[in-house]
Amino acid sequence: IPIPPRLARPGVAWQHHHHATVNLVRQHRNQKHDGPIQFITNIINRPQLVSTCSEWKRLEKHAEYIGTTHLKDLLQDRERCDEMYATHDGVYLDYSRQRVTLETMKFLYALAEKQNLKGQIDKMVKGDKINFTEDRAVLHTALRAERALTGTVMVDGVDVIAEVHQVLDQVKVFTDGVRSGQIRGYTGKRLRNIVSVGIGGSYLGPEFLHECLKTEPEGINSALGYSLRFLSNVDPVDVERTCADLDPEETLVVVVSKTFTTAETMLNARTMRQWLWDFMGNDKEVVKKHMVACASVSAIDNVRKFGIDTDRYFFRFWDFVGGRYSVCSAAGAVPISLLYGFDLFEKFLQGANSMDKHFLTAPYDRNIPVLMGLLGVWNMSFMNYKARTTLPYAEALLKLPAHIQQLDMESNGKTMTKHGLEVDYPVGEIDFGEAGTNGQHSFYQLLHMGQTVPCDFIGFVQSQHDFCLDGENLSSHDELMANFFAQPDALATGKTADEVRAEGVPPGLVGHKVFKGNRPSLSLLLPKLTAYACGQLLAIYEHRTAVQGFMWDINSFDQWGVELGKKLAIDVKGHLLNARRSEEEVETSNPATTRLLNYYVNNSRR
Ligand code: F6P
Repeated sequence: IPIPPRLARPGVAWQHHHHATVNLVRQHRNQKHDGPIQFITNIINRPQLVSTCSEWKRLEKHAEYIGTTHLKDLLQDRERCDEMYATHDGVYLDYSRQRVTLETMKFLYALAEKQNLKGQIDKMVKGDKINFTEDRAVLHTALRAERALTGTVMVDGVDVIAEVHQVLDQVKVFTDGVRSGQIRGYTGKRLRNIVSVGIGGSYLGPEFLHECLKTEPEGINSALGYSLRFLSNVDPVDVERTCADLDPEETLVVVVSKTFTTAETMLNARTMRQWLWDFMGNDKEVVKKHMVACASVSAIDNVRKFGIDTDRYFFRFWDFVGGRYSVCSAAGAVPISLLYGFDLFEKFLQGANSMDKHFLTAPYDRNIPVLMGLLGVWNMSFMNYKARTTLPYAEALLKLPAHIQQLDMESNGKTMTKHGLEVDYPVGEIDFGEAGTNGQHSFYQLLHMGQTVPCDFIGFVQSQHDFCLDGENLSSHDELMANFFAQPDALATGKTADEVRAEGVPPGLVGHKVFKGNRPSLSLLLPKLTAYACGQLLAIYEHRTAVQGFMWDINSFDQWGVELGKKLAIDVKGHLLNARRSEEEVETSNPATTRLLNYYVNNSRR
């Protein structure tokens, strides 16, 4: 079999092709086949790793050159800096502190073309089943589409946008009813405490939004007299912390679970049901009046069996909404609207929708989520930076890093391409973060002097609350933002040994005080942290994740990696049950687990 010249190159990719070709030859010998021409065509059309294409190779080569540059110098190039920003609807992205030149960006756009990035984005928003391992569409953008678009997105005969708006209307009527006192608890009291039970995507997004609105002036006004808590961890201590000072007669429990089978959520939901019964009596009506569900359409029977009134208090979402992309669905709409009112939640949707439109229409070089996604791919796959950090200079965004952690790591923590080939290039960053300036006094030491971790700095022109102390010339927000502007430069430019010496530092200490710099970051500056801005930020990060997945040729919308641990936990529960019932020693197939489990069981005999 002649090797097509473009495959005949050394290295991993070549070995991969070689083995695959040998396999094809074997198949060819062993099977009935379509003839030699078809056989050759099959070889030539075989899916290939993106890392074998010339656009990728060019970027690899280019990365070697970028390795010889320093941001201190790149930042002196005014023309370069003037190009490296993008704006939309008040959001300002500055990426001049990335280790890229204008040429790098051109090469990245060429790779995006090669990967048909635009085509892949369009397929997603049209409702193609791009999550092919679960045979599902990926339509979180439809959750914030205007009502006028009804009829434009159909999946399996369902008019997606019409359904989305039906549920939003239902949420509005229900949450207005609770907030006005028209809908009350079992004993006739007003429902003022909301407990949202859910985990992963059914918790992190809504909590991020809640934390943003908690100190937002409109949020403060609309939440007066109500409270919202999240119960996510299966740890009994989380239940205690959630319920300790709540009056069950005034509590409404929202169970958020797409599948309505997640072990942690179901145990917490049963615990909350028991808690309500313990106070108000074991009556089915207690559950009907104090518990509601947000779940996928296919979970309705389980919701009904649980005792929730599915005719009135079942808020559905669909299989085309992934858990970590579900904050714009009923999963976020119900708890957030109960606390803050539906109007504020709608503003959040509008912000996300504005960013969706930008994402779908702006050219690559002006497109905020596309630029951030391409830079993510560049940093991870070409510069080999394995982690990335989110640093919001806004206390109210303290839960954004945790949300991004799930959004990104559950989406892109993969090794298999869509074509069933194992990737031979790094994908899927480790995401972490912390609100500034807290992070500065925690892990920034490593950011400045340890490993290189690309940083996202997020700041706001105006604070949700600002003040200026008597005698101070700058407001407290100015003080915070001074750090937002200073840190990226400190990371980028660093400090040389000569500069350290010039400060009179003793020779023995000079090395310890040198900052090599050349550490990349980007800055996002928005007008003010409102519900609308939260929507914009959410959409930016959702799309960044998708862009990276599209570029890497992986499916960012399934999460099979969480299954094995779940299955083994069920096995362990079986062992624990036996041990508790029989008082016999635990015996598993793994001696280390056997020993550890017996230690646990023997020391916790009741
Ligand atoms: O962690 C796995 C996962 O399936 C997430 O993707 C999801 O957000 C979370 O569990 C909760 O799932 P559910 O909403 O079905 O309870």
